[in-house]
Amino acid sequence: MNRLEELRRRHTAAEEGGGAERRERQHREGKLSARERVELLLDEGTFEEIDKLIEHRCRDFGMDQQVIPGDGLVTGYGRVSGRLTFVFAQDFTVFGGSLSETNAIKICKVMDLALKTGAPLVGLNDSGGARIQEGVLSLGGYADIFLRNTLASGVVPQISAVMGPCAGGAVYSPAITDFIFMVADTSYMFVTGPDVIKTVTHEDVTKEALGGSMTHNAKSGVGHFIAADDKECIQMIRELLSYLPQNNREDAPRRACTDPIDRADPELDCIVPPESNQPYDIKDVIHRVVDDAEFFEVHEHFARNIVVGFARLDGRPVGIVANQPAFLAGCLDINSSVKGARFVRFCDAFNIPIITFEDVPGFLPGTDQEFGGIIRHGAKLLYAYAEATVPKITVITRKAYGGAYCVMGSKHLRTDVNLAWPTAEIAVMGAEGAVNIVYRRELASGDADLRAQKIADFNDRFASPFVAAERGFVDDVIEPRETRGRLIRSLRMLETKVDTMPRKKHGNIPL
Ligand code: HXC
Repeated sequence: MNRLEELRRRHTAAEEGGGAERRERQHREGKLSARERVELLLDEGTFEEIDKLIEHRCRDFGMDQQVIPGDGLVTGYGRVSGRLTFVFAQDFTVFGGSLSETNAIKICKVMDLALKTGAPLVGLNDSGGARIQEGVLSLGGYADIFLRNTLASGVVPQISAVMGPCAGGAVYSPAITDFIFMVADTSYMFVTGPDVIKTVTHEDVTKEALGGSMTHNAKSGVGHFIAADDKECIQMIRELLSYLPQNNREDAPRRACTDPIDRADPELDCIVPPESNQPYDIKDVIHRVVDDAEFFEVHEHFARNIVVGFARLDGRPVGIVANQPAFLAGCLDINSSVKGARFVRFCDAFNIPIITFEDVPGFLPGTDQEFGGIIRHGAKLLYAYAEATVPKITVITRKAYGGAYCVMGSKHLRTDVNLAWPTAEIAVMGAEGAVNIVYRRELASGDADLRAQKIADFNDRFASPFVAAERGFVDDVIEPRETRGRLIRSLRMLETKVDTMPRKKHGNIPL
C-alpha cells in the first residue's frame, strides 16, 4: 500500500470510530455521533480536524489489538457564525468515549490553541470516564485538562455540553467551565454512581434521579441549560456564543438594532401591582425592555427567585440580573445568591455590561438558610457586584429592602447608573415590621387606626424612591415606560468606561 492509500485508510478508520453497529446503538438511544455533533456546531464546511491520526499507547489488556486512529475523540476548530471556535467531541463508540492519555493530549492541544488565539472552546462530553486500561495515565490526563480549564477561566469562554455519561472526577472539567448544557433523558453527571451509593449509604437511586438533566438544572444548579435533544443542545450553544466575546480583551459582538431605541412601553407603567405584596413576572419587564423581546435565560430552572441571562440593548449584548417577585417573593437565598454571583462574575470577566432589575424584600429568613451559610453565600453576590468593573445599571422596580438594597447593584457598590420607578420602596425593612419596632409602645393599646396611619406615614416618609433620589443614591426616578430609552442612553454614555481594582494577586471571595 502506498502512503496515500495508507493515509486514506487511516482517515476512513478514524471516521468509522467504533463501527456502524455501535453508531447505530448511539442513534437508537437518540444520540448523535461525535462527528455529527461537531458538524452541527460549526458553520458548514469550516471544520478543520486536528490529530485525526493519533493512536492510544496502551499495550495492556489486549488493547494493542484495538487501535483506532483518532482514539475516539474528534478535535479541531471551525467557525460559529463566522467566528473562530475550538471544539472537542468524545466518541462514545470507541471505548465508551473513555479518556485515554492521548485523548487528554488532544484536548490539551485545542485548549492551548484556544488560549493562544483567544477563541472560545466547546467540549461535547459523552464518556465513561477515565479509560480503565490506562490507569494513572488517564487520571493524569484529566488533571492536565483541569489545569487548563482553570488557566483559561476568565480568558476565553468555555462551554461544556454533557450529551451522555459524565461520571467520577470527569465531571470537574465541565464544572470549571462557564456553562454546562445537558440533554434530557440521555445525559447524566455524578461523582459516584448509583451502585457505589447503594453500597456506602444503602440509598436506592436511579441514574436519572441522581444526576439527570433536570436534577442538575433544577436542584443542584450544576447544569445551566437543558435541551430536548442533541440538535437543540447544539443550536442553543450557537445562540449562547452569539452573546459572548471571543475573549476577555474583546467586546461582545454587536448586532444591527431595528427595535427603536426610544420605544416607550405604556404597559410598563401598570406592570407592578398596586398591592405591594402581589406578585408579577419580572420576565415580562425584561421582555418589554430589551431588543425584540429576546431574552436568553441562563439557569432557568434553578433558584427561580432570581432571573439571569443575556439580551441585547441597542444591539449590544448585556447580562440581565433580576429578582423574581413571582417566586419566593423575590427573596434572596443561598441558591439565588450563588447563581447571581456566578453570572455577574462571568459578565465582568467578559466585558458584558450588567443590567439589574431590583424587587427584593430581603434575604430569606429561617434556620435552613442560616445553618446553610446564607451569610457566606449572600456575601458572594455582594462581592461579585462590588468587584465588577463593567458598566453597571440598576433599575429598582419595587422593593429594595435591607441588606438586599445594598447587594443588588446599589450606588454604593460603584454602580454607574441607578434608576427607580415611582413604585420603588427603599427602606431598612417593610413598613409593617418597621412600625412594630419603632412605635411599639404607642401601638401597645392595639389601636388599628393608629397603626394604619403609622404605616402610611412610614411609607410616605421612608419607603419611597424620593428619599434615595434626594441623596443621589438613585440618579433619577423615571416613568417605567421610558426604561428602554434610559438604559440605552446610559449604556452609550458608559461605552468608554474604565474602572480598576487595587493591585492584588486575587481577591478572596467567600467561597
Ligand atoms: C474503558 C470503557 C469505559 C472506561 C465504558 N467502556 N467505560 N472502556 N474505560 N471507563 C467501554 C465498555 O467496555 C464498552 O465497550 C463500551 O465502552 C460501552 O460501554 P457499555 O457499558 O456497553 O455502555 P452503557 O451500557 O451505555 O454504559 C455506559 C457506562 C458504563 C455507564 C458509562 O460503561 C460504565 O459504567 N463505565 C464505567 C464508568 C466508570 O466507572 N468510569 C470511571 C469513572 S472514575 P465495548 O467494547 O463492549 O463496546 C473516573 C475518574 C476520573 O473517570 C478522575 C479524574 C480526576
